[in-house]
Amino acid sequence: MPTQLQSRAQPPTFGGGTGAHIALEGVSRTYSARNGAEVQALAEVSLRAGAGELLAVVGPSGCGKSTLLELLCRLQSPDRGSISCPPAVLMPQHDLLLPWLSALDNAALALRIAGAKRAQARARAEGLFVELGLAGFQHARPHELSGGMRQRVAFLRTLLSGKPVLCLDEPFGALDAITRAEMQEWLAGTLAGEPRTVVLVTHDVEEAILLADSVVVLSPRPGRVVAQLEVELARPRRRTDGDVIALRERALAILATGSQS
Ligand SMILES: Nc1ncnc2c1ncn2[C@@H]1O[C@H](COP(=O)(O)OP(=O)(O)OP(=O)(O)O)[C@@H](O)[C@H]1O
Ligand SMILES: [Mg+2]
Repeated sequence: MPTQLQSRAQPPTFGGGTGAHIALEGVSRTYSARNGAEVQALAEVSLRAGAGELLAVVGPSGCGKSTLLELLCRLQSPDRGSISCPPAVLMPQHDLLLPWLSALDNAALALRIAGAKRAQARARAEGLFVELGLAGFQHARPHELSGGMRQRVAFLRTLLSGKPVLCLDEPFGALDAITRAEMQEWLAGTLAGEPRTVVLVTHDVEEAILLADSVVVLSPRPGRVVAQLEVELARPRRRTDGDVIALRERALAILATGSQS
C-alpha cells in the first residue's frame, strides 16, 4: 500500500448528518482569569472522527488540548460552535489514582460510581488485570506500582466506564522512553481487542503516527486546526518504518511552521 498522509482538502462540513461519530464545528473557548483578563484557549476548531477511530491531537503546550478533551466530555461548554459527541470519559493528564485504594478498587471505581456493587465491580476489573499485565498487583496501593502500571490501572478505570468515547490526555507523558514504547504497543493491542473511539492528546508526533487513524495538528494558543491528517498505514506500525518516518517528518514540519506548505 502506498504511503498515505492526506490532508482533508476542505475544512469539514458537517452538522450531525455526515455520519461522523465526533464532530466539532467552529468551537471556541475563552477563560476569564481571576484578574479579569481573558485567555482564549481554542479558536474556531472544526474536526471530526469516525466510530472506532483513534484521533490524535498534537500541538504546543498551552494550545488548548486539555480544554478540547474537557469539552468533548462535557466538563465545560464552548463559547461558540457546536459539538456532537457520544458520551465520553476522560483519562486526565495526571493519573489521579486514589492513594488509599488498592489498584483493583481504583480500577473498579468507574463501575462503582455507575452503581455497581463492590464485589461485582471488582470481579469485572479483576478479569482484565491479567490481560493488562497487572496480574498479582490487585492489592497494591498506587505508590507501590511503576509509572506504567499506574497508567494501566487508570486506563482500565477509563475503559470500564463503558463509555463509547475515551479521551486520553497525555497518557504516557510521564513515562521513560522504553516504558512509553511498551505502553504504545499495549494500547494498540488493547484497542484491537476492545474497540472504542479514542481521542488521544500527545505532544509526541511519532506516537500519534504510530497509533492514530487521523492526526489533528493545533497551532499555538489559541489553538486552531492547522491540519487534520489521515494516516492510512497498515498496523502494526514500527517507528523505524520508512512510511512512519516520512509522516512524522511531515507532521513535525506542519507543527513547526504552523502551516501545511
Ligand atoms: N480554568 C482555567 N482558567 C483560566 N485559564 C485556563 C484554565 N484552564 C486552562 N487555561 C488556560 O488555557 C490555555 C489552554 O490550556 P490547556 O490546559 O487546555 O492547554 P494544553 O494544550 O492542554 O497544555 P499542556 O500541553 O501544557 O497540557 C492555557 O493558556 C491555560 O493557561
Ligand atoms: Mg494539557
